[in-house]
Amino acid sequence: MKVGVLASGGGTNLQALIDAAARGALGPAKLAVVGVNVDGCGALERARQAGLATFVVDHRAFADRATFDRALVAELRVRQVELLVMAGFMRLVTAELLDAFPGRVINIHPALLPAFPGVDGQSQAFEYGVKIAGCTVHFVDRGRDSGPVIAQTAVCVLENDDEDRLRQRILEEEHRLLPAVVRAIAEGRVTLEGRRVRVRAAIADETRLRSL
Ligand code: GAR
Repeated sequence: MKVGVLASGGGTNLQALIDAAARGALGPAKLAVVGVNVDGCGALERARQAGLATFVVDHRAFADRATFDRALVAELRVRQVELLVMAGFMRLVTAELLDAFPGRVINIHPALLPAFPGVDGQSQAFEYGVKIAGCTVHFVDRGRDSGPVIAQTAVCVLENDDEDRLRQRILEEEHRLLPAVVRAIAEGRVTLEGRRVRVRAAIADETRLRSL
């Protein structure tokens, strides 16, 4: 299954996918292309270092979100992308993109959705004072971080935590969760029933959350 990745920032989640692919942990998923909207961002550099195909489409060059998305779709189609992964891609997407990859766009979010959607989910959770934070991988729909949840990992907020430490521990879990979900989808183990997502585990692992 050909995977396209969209990113805007440092690209540590992209790196987790690259590393997983290198050790054969993505199953039949193959990273086909990485697209960014911020030229020079860390994700672009990581993709180039890994020898992946890349493209840059700067959203500021487009009149609206739909025309920006059409440009993304054109680039992704060149590489025959079948699964689109938003890994720190900080743009809202439109039907132009979603309809091009129906049921095949996923996103990682640094909070336990539906709590704390939008930007900076980790800070929102920390400021709110929750005791359990975490991360979510979900299918993307037309809402803001509102699509069906595929998998989540919980991260406890410790008494002496500060925002940065919490962010870092959530990020480490993101790096485990995202490749596991990509693999599960590529292996055909993920099905949607209404808005409930069923993930069949190939092998039992030490915890249910890690058994994706
Ligand atoms: C990650 O924490 C990801 O969950 C978050 O951006 C960060 C990107 O880091 N995404 C969102 O907040 C989307 N709403 P990375 O560039 O190092 O992968």
